[in-house]
Amino acid sequence: MTSRAAPKASDAIATFLGSFSNPMEVIEPVLPEIAFLGRSNVGKSSLLNALVGIKGLAKVSATPGKTQTMNVFKVDQGRPYYLVDLPGYGYAKTSKTNRASFVALIDGYLNRRLTVTGLVWLLDIRHDPSAEDRTMAEILGDRGLPVLAIFTKADKLGTQAIRTQARAITRALGLNEEQAQVTSSKTGAGIAELRATIAAAVAG
Ligand code: GTP
Ligand code: MG
Repeated sequence: MTSRAAPKASDAIATFLGSFSNPMEVIEPVLPEIAFLGRSNVGKSSLLNALVGIKGLAKVSATPGKTQTMNVFKVDQGRPYYLVDLPGYGYAKTSKTNRASFVALIDGYLNRRLTVTGLVWLLDIRHDPSAEDRTMAEILGDRGLPVLAIFTKADKLGTQAIRTQARAITRALGLNEEQAQVTSSKTGAGIAELRATIAAAVAG
């Protein structure tokens, strides 16, 4: 009888590379890079963990403003790539200094980073877009990078409400429907589809 070896930590498909506060940080080797962007508390870190199937890899918190630096993860599945967990925007309760540094980091990342392959832009399915979301829509439109909109926390709504909200948010932000997907990090809904979309983008 053959026994199977227990998986080693090194067998994990994703590993944490580091936290950086400089959006121009050079990460070697250069690989395709997909960044997670969205309001504070929208579920970026949770979605990243759901995608790679490792709970707690990216730090999740019910308190907005958890992610404060650009956290980089390497995914080794098919063609290797980086996932970047960015701080959230639009969190009013943090200090002015903190907020300014998040904005500078996100702004630098979006406007000056050369290695970005695509952006995953998260929007809470329950809420109409905020003023910051609308500003982000303009910034992303100007930047011209490939953007996939992800409606998060779908487990909080019923099927009909999901459809109505997805349509309303898509329209409010001037997105097209093919550019959007619905997910729940809690139930796993839409996660396999998102993984496939990202794999196709990085293979690209
Ligand atoms: P910041 O780092 O503060 O910008 O937040 P974030 O966007 O990384 O959000 P995070 O993943 O830390 O999740 C925020 C809260 O939402 C946590 O309490 C999560 O458990 C919860 N959450 C995230 N995704 C889902 C989801 O799909 N369904 C439900 N019900 N809750 C979720
Ligand atoms: Mg986070």
